[in-house]
Amino acid sequence: MQKLSIQDLSLEGMRIFIRADLNVPLDKDGQILDDTRIKAALPTIEYAISQGGKVILASHMKRPTTKDPSLSLAPVAKRLSVLLSQTVAFAPDCIGHEVKTMISSMSNGDIVVLENLRFHPGEVHPEQDPSFAAKLAELADIYVDDAFGCAHRAHSSIVQITKYFPEKSCAGFLLERESTFLSTIVNHAKVPFYAICGGAKVSTKIGVLNSLIEKIDALFIGGGMAFTFFKAMGIEIGNSILDEEHIHLAKELIQKCLAKGVQLHLPEDILIAQSIDVNSTTELIDISNGIKPGWIGVDIGPKTIENWSKCFQSASTLFWNGPMGIFEIAPFANGTIELGRSLGKLTCLTIVGGGDSVAAVNQDGIASQFSHISTGGGASLEFIENGHLPGIDALSER
Ligand code: 3PG
Repeated sequence: MQKLSIQDLSLEGMRIFIRADLNVPLDKDGQILDDTRIKAALPTIEYAISQGGKVILASHMKRPTTKDPSLSLAPVAKRLSVLLSQTVAFAPDCIGHEVKTMISSMSNGDIVVLENLRFHPGEVHPEQDPSFAAKLAELADIYVDDAFGCAHRAHSSIVQITKYFPEKSCAGFLLERESTFLSTIVNHAKVPFYAICGGAKVSTKIGVLNSLIEKIDALFIGGGMAFTFFKAMGIEIGNSILDEEHIHLAKELIQKCLAKGVQLHLPEDILIAQSIDVNSTTELIDISNGIKPGWIGVDIGPKTIENWSKCFQSASTLFWNGPMGIFEIAPFANGTIELGRSLGKLTCLTIVGGGDSVAAVNQDGIASQFSHISTGGGASLEFIENGHLPGIDALSER
């Protein structure tokens, strides 16, 4: 990476503003359901304190438009304190007099977590309040971006803030690791390079698919978006999810695959259900016969997994994004789980990007079997699509 790294700067006694992505899933009582993102931020935090820095940790949580106590970062500060076995202070805001006072009394090695950045509209809308970035910048001497999951957002704490740290805006370890792995895919993936793409809608993935098609040798399409492809091919899909306005995109993609010699694999067998319900009647069908009227395709079938798994054996690089079925409903999760297991056994470079596929791999406890699991859903897709992200572009050059 050509950008300045946290390791390039002297941190002792410095106030270090670390922008992390600590936007973790919470239950209705505000309990953290999955602390993967907090753990992913630890190497940078630990390094900063080990070098004698004073860590000011900032993040957003969800998408509040105003102060919402249920979206406080207080539980994150608490969890961090357990993970690091040290006291972690929590500031009731992310800017202002009280926060400044707290920071002025910090000793080297101390950590303070700031309250949700998005409680201030200026975080998401820098143009409406340019002073917000300035107020954040006043808190620190050095800026570290370790929030890969938000690097596609040109928000105040990610882009605008860097102009106040002209030679001291650097990347943390997570940001460096993510961009190294994803750059491999963008710039020099070892071939054969295969991509597996799932998720509900063709339209949300079309950018990344168009970009991938220039680099890959085979494309495997599963999940809800497969039904738009089936429709485009004239196959009956019953009541399955259909991205009606974008059938033409599926048709264009099929044509592009043909023109570029990219093998296109769609599921051969599909689990269908009468309703999207855990207790629904289901049937396994061969898709060549189409889906009966009124039935819904909810997952890919075992024959598909078996045949795709044979194909994966010849890959040197594999990128997977998006679930293969409605995996949040247990009886429809099998395709996604089995796909993850099949990929986890491979010895080639395997990269998983995107919230739901990452959640599936984590839930199944097989994350360590992959070369890289991206913490960024939207960010990893935009990185692959565009080859760069605003949050990385804004950092100081090395
Ligand atoms: C994410 O969960 O993908 C990141 O934290 C970014 O969140 P956002 O999509 O609300 O900007």
